[in-house]
Amino acid sequence: MDETSLIKQAFSARKNSYAPYSGFTVGAALLCSDGTIYLGANIENAAYSPSLCAERAAFAKAVGDGQREFSAIAVVGGKAGLGAGQIGLAYPCGVCRQWMAEFCQGDFKIIVAAAEDDFKVYLLKELLPHGFSPQSLF
Ligand code: THU
Repeated sequence: MDETSLIKQAFSARKNSYAPYSGFTVGAALLCSDGTIYLGANIENAAYSPSLCAERAAFAKAVGDGQREFSAIAVVGGKAGLGAGQIGLAYPCGVCRQWMAEFCQGDFKIIVAAAEDDFKVYLLKELLPHGFSPQSLF
């Protein structure tokens, strides 16, 4: 898996962010096990709580397309107007980690990046230890 290329696509997805309230724009690129990549950006709402994170936007597109197996996601985010090298690392929120746990195993890779050559790679089991997953119900 090429982290650099996935990060590049996350930066591209970030351009479509709709974040008029927070001014914090996020992009995500989700790699499916079959090699398909789905992009997502955060979509805010005037009522605030219905806002959607970039990661869940990408998962919603992929799952709605019938995808069920995933390898990795790259996430980039920061204040609008700040680009690669100017932003910090934006870690997935708790709700997004829980969405990942619904469809991904513990070895799913989460790449958080500030630039194409400045990133960290985590496993889902590191960012959501002892999580509640579909297996918990059986
Ligand atoms: N946001 C994401 O898109 N992903 C996350 O994991 C954390 C936060 C968005 C939500 C909101 O539109 C903005 O960042 C500020 O919280």
